[in-house]
Amino acid sequence: MPSESCPVTPPMPPTPPPTPLRPATVAVTAGRPPHDPDNPLNVPLTMASTYVAGGDVEYGRYGNPTWTAFEDALGALEGGRCLAFSSGLAVVATVLELVGQGRKVVAPRHAYNGSVMQLADLEARGRITVELVDIEDTAAVVTACSDAALVWLESPTNPALEVADLAPVIAAGHEAGAYVVVDNTFATPLLQQPLALGADLVVHSATKFIAGHSDVLLGALATKDDELYDVLRKRRELTGAVPGTFEAWLALRGLRTLHVRLDRAQGNAQELVRRLGDHPAVGEVRYPGFGAIVSIVLAQGELAADLLTRKTTLWVHATSLGGVESTFERRRRWKSEPATIPDALVRMSVGIEDVDDLWDDLAGALDDLTGEPSTTTTSESGVLGGP
Ligand SMILES: Cc1ncc(COP(=O)(O)O)c(C=O)c1O
Repeated sequence: MPSESCPVTPPMPPTPPPTPLRPATVAVTAGRPPHDPDNPLNVPLTMASTYVAGGDVEYGRYGNPTWTAFEDALGALEGGRCLAFSSGLAVVATVLELVGQGRKVVAPRHAYNGSVMQLADLEARGRITVELVDIEDTAAVVTACSDAALVWLESPTNPALEVADLAPVIAAGHEAGAYVVVDNTFATPLLQQPLALGADLVVHSATKFIAGHSDVLLGALATKDDELYDVLRKRRELTGAVPGTFEAWLALRGLRTLHVRLDRAQGNAQELVRRLGDHPAVGEVRYPGFGAIVSIVLAQGELAADLLTRKTTLWVHATSLGGVESTFERRRRWKSEPATIPDALVRMSVGIEDVDDLWDDLAGALDDLTGEPSTTTTSESGVLGGP
């Protein structure tokens, strides 16, 4: 028996290296106030245009604790430092300002049409040159990168759902001395982490899956590069493209459940892809194998696609994507959508409802289409570009 007067202290086991938290835990815990007595669990809404002088913030365009909490959480998920903006397109505009006068940007021909319109506008005004590429043709993209100042990637693309081979394209961009940017809106940091693959910047329309409830417009970027972070933060201050406080708060609230929502929506999408493939009204199903966006091309053409979007009761005919509710639209109803997107393509944003209800609603509308060919006129939006 060990003697009480002579205690033996057992050797301490070596301290294990801290286990990095898994993404679901990061989504729930990052950007919270410290666990001090009486602290709120959630960051409060700090509605302030100005702060008492002498501190670090001073003015509402320079910072806000509610933005910071959102940025800490999204940055932790992307593996970098994050900045929030007033919308996804405000991020696109800010990042494109990195390109020197007359220099070249390589971008997907089927990137989100708002991004492509910004590129075209800058090119028309002589600011930059643009080469649009098929991002699935890796060899062609690598060649195009050789004299680029910035390589813009979006993967999967909206709405063609093409997927880029990120690693070799990022390497080719860096070899040319270009910034490489990945729009990660469709994949979210839970399905793809471009910074870990070497990208300089990740951009998001946080309006979509990150906020997740179709009630917020917000943009965000993330980077591991402190210098780039400082430059872009300064540009946000100069342009004033800052987020609203309530928007940042709502987006953080949405981010807390991103993993649960995405898991359910992706499961629903995969099941619908299986069922859609067998329906005679559907000519083609496009799905990259992950995520919650599916595009279908109607076998009977664009009139059938328009009719479909008017025949359902659960599926909402609406633009945008990434919310809890299922929405869909014929993308070519937007004048800015390129002619290489099929006229009869319907982009579907699969929500988190019961998949059998979603299928019953959709299958009922598709069955009707096979019965009666459409005679209605096609719908066209009066607005230029659809999200
Ligand atoms: C892939 C992608 N990037 C950027 C944007 C622009 O974001 P926002 O509408 O928040 O300005 C969108 C909008 O649909 C998008 O789909």
